[in-house]
Amino acid sequence: MIQVRPARVQDVPAIHDLIARAAERKLMVRRELRELYETICELMVAVDDSGQVVGCSGLHVFGPDYAELKGVAVEETQRARGVGRRLVAAAHDLAARLGVRTVFTLTQTPAFFEKCGYTVVDRAVLPRDIWSECVRCPFFPECRETALVIPIQVEPLQRNGAVGEDIPRADLGEAVNGVAVHPASRG
Ligand SMILES: CC(C)(COP(=O)(O)OP(=O)(O)OC[C@H]1O[C@@H](n2cnc3c(N)ncnc32)[C@H](O)[C@@H]1OP(=O)(O)O)[C@@H](O)C(=O)NCCC(=O)NCCS
Repeated sequence: MIQVRPARVQDVPAIHDLIARAAERKLMVRRELRELYETICELMVAVDDSGQVVGCSGLHVFGPDYAELKGVAVEETQRARGVGRRLVAAAHDLAARLGVRTVFTLTQTPAFFEKCGYTVVDRAVLPRDIWSECVRCPFFPECRETALVIPIQVEPLQRNGAVGEDIPRADLGEAVNGVAVHPASRG
């Protein structure tokens, strides 16, 4: 049985290898070991019965209202069994716990993310501060990625055991195609 759980530092070499294999096929951006250790709190893994890592995903928070789903990869022998979908759902659970209302992703595999509930949007609606990583992309500056977003139902705050209240939404300016864009991020 496959279990999806938060990553531990011991999982990092296997996550690194999974991403490296996808990066060799130019499907995702390569990640350095150090970067993976530093962002361990953002990462989820799928492990098999023997504890071997067979999949990974990550959620990087950019601001009070949006985070990026990144680094979703599943070992080839374990694909088409719902593992990728579960890794995406785990990232959404993390976003909901953190109070992040919009998750976006940039991918060359939009059909998979559409199956996971995402909607394609114009890349231009995404905030400018997310593009710093693009220089590491093998296709830079010719972007081949599709942008997709999904709204997240955030977990209500719990106070004194009472039924939670909603978290107030930060004022991020107008929402464009469902993605809140900070006024300072717009051109
Ligand atoms: C994309 C990837 C993560 C999917 O993982 P997976 O475990 O095979 O996906 P699932 O089995 O959970 O599939 C969920 C749904 O998406 C569909 N799907 C999976 N991969 C797909 C693809 N490449 N294109 C279109 N649809 C896809 C499945 O058919 C399934 O649909 P269904 O529910 O109607 O049957 C995996 O193929 C992979 O690691 N690819 C290499 C890295 C990559 O491209 N990552 C994504 C970009 S960052």
